[in-house]
Amino acid sequence: MNVKTIGFIGTGVLASSMIHGIKGSPELSRTRVAVSPRNADRASELASRYENVAVARSNQEVLDTSDWVVISVIPPVAESVVRELRFSSDHTVISVLATKRLSAVRSWISPAVRLFRMVPMPFISLRTGPITLYPSDDGVKEFFSHLGHVIVMDEECQVELTNAITSVTNATYTIIKTVAEWGEENGLPQGKSLDYTISYFEAMLSQISGNLSDRLPRLVEERTSGGMNDIVMKLIASHGGFDLWADGLDAAIKKCRADYCGGE
Ligand SMILES: NC(=O)c1ccc[n+]([C@@H]2O[C@H](COP(=O)([O-])OP(=O)(O)OC[C@H]3O[C@@H](n4cnc5c(N)ncnc54)[C@H](OP(=O)(O)O)[C@@H]3O)[C@@H](O)[C@H]2O)c1
Repeated sequence: MNVKTIGFIGTGVLASSMIHGIKGSPELSRTRVAVSPRNADRASELASRYENVAVARSNQEVLDTSDWVVISVIPPVAESVVRELRFSSDHTVISVLATKRLSAVRSWISPAVRLFRMVPMPFISLRTGPITLYPSDDGVKEFFSHLGHVIVMDEECQVELTNAITSVTNATYTIIKTVAEWGEENGLPQGKSLDYTISYFEAMLSQISGNLSDRLPRLVEERTSGGMNDIVMKLIASHGGFDLWADGLDAAIKKCRADYCGGE
């Protein structure tokens, strides 16, 4: 792994989550980090908390001191921010811009050509969760594999689909909250209902995590006819409860594609 300094153009929620992850990783913690000066409070908080995190005087200084550059501003300002900068052909550039395709970003960063698209999520700070990468690269994959589960996409359009999948976050947390609240309303103490429900969901996911994913179809079907699980499954299915999730994802990808059309 050849990255000595990784620089961030834009020090927002995602950039700081990535930096927390890097600095919390035994393998990556010595990596030097350069951040933009723009979000001054967040930048100086990162610099005072961690060794080898420097607040640059300008976005250009971030580039001039970094081998890898992460573009982490919001998409509407990205082109004007990035086009102002002078890249070198040695730079490796990682775009986390949710609604900008590589073809657009490539034209802003010449003469740099090593360009990757990545979708980390804020829980990268805890060094967990999926990190979409396109295209494949051994060095980038190796670095980020210390920060989560890197999944390399074969085509850029697949990155859009993973973006859409992240739109189930609030709905999923709402399911957990609804279940825990039901427990409370029916007599479980508040803390215990939540504690039990979260532990139960965690255990269910652990049954299909990693190389156990082929268990999922069996686990979906494994229930006693007329039993409690069967009653819940049939009631939710009869109200279209599961189909609604696919409908929600259809609506999310439609918005994502509309943002691309308006965003390039
Ligand atoms: N957050 C997520 O869950 C998530 C997930 C996947 C991908 N992404 C992508 O990650 C990128 C960053 O998202 P975010 O949630 O971190 O947004 P954010 O919190 O709004 O961060 C963007 C940062 O860019 C800064 N900025 C604006 N103009 C700048 C300039 N000229 N020079 C340097 N910095 C500038 C902003 O500073 P000010 O606050 O001063 O304006 C802010 O600190 C976006 O492109 C988004 O699509 C985010």
